[in-house]
Amino acid sequence: MEETARHFERIGNQIQYDYELTKKYLEKMARTKIDPDFKFHESDEEILKRLFVYNIDDFEHCKLFGVDPRKGILLIGPVGCGKTTLMKVFSYLAHDHKKYVIKPTREITAEFIQDGFQVLSRYGKSYKGFCFDDLGVEQSIKHFGNECNVIGEILLSRYEYMKVHNSVTHSTTNLNANELEKIYGIRVRSRLREMFNLISFPESTQDKRK
Ligand SMILES: Nc1ncnc2c1ncn2[C@@H]1O[C@H](COP(=O)(O)OP(=O)(O)O)[C@@H](O)[C@H]1O
Ligand SMILES: [Mg+2]
Repeated sequence: MEETARHFERIGNQIQYDYELTKKYLEKMARTKIDPDFKFHESDEEILKRLFVYNIDDFEHCKLFGVDPRKGILLIGPVGCGKTTLMKVFSYLAHDHKKYVIKPTREITAEFIQDGFQVLSRYGKSYKGFCFDDLGVEQSIKHFGNECNVIGEILLSRYEYMKVHNSVTHSTTNLNANELEKIYGIRVRSRLREMFNLISFPESTQDKRK
């Protein structure tokens, strides 16, 4: 069956692929594993292209589209535009060293309440790739009386680690840079551009929830 195969091949540093066929393969994966009604929207094409060449390590097109393959992705856009879904879909395409696990920020703060400060290193100092889903929806929490900005601390650790270990960090959010700064502080804001390729859905993007 044609669509069940991956339509790309790596030969050393070279990559050959059929963009449209590989998209069909991804669409099929998404329908099976994520949402039976999933389809790529023509209106999201600019974003899809970027996510595609990034995850597959097509350096030539990364350069052309202004995507830095060494940084992560920060996918920004209004609620329901499909950020979480796209990060899931493209995880099936990610080249081995770019594999990542989607982790809702709410789950991380819940783990922090349960397990305490070890959660900061569990995510902040891990070699594993993560996509921190929905920055800014979690609450800053008090742990034994100390206010702790859990996700902010994790992001700063990942920033330090990224330089040494090349571990992948992605995120999604529906907040803008000013709003992120209010929650995580100036240190996080000033590192955002160094850590992430900022990829934004237009504010007018339609809500994909049924
Ligand atoms: N391309 C798509 N085709 C069909 N349904 C989609 C698509 N993208 C998202 N959805 C559906 O829309 C809803 C919202 O998507 P989600 O990824 O959670 O949005 P966000 O993370 O931006 O808030 C989900 O139910 C999802 O299954
Ligand atoms: Mg989401």
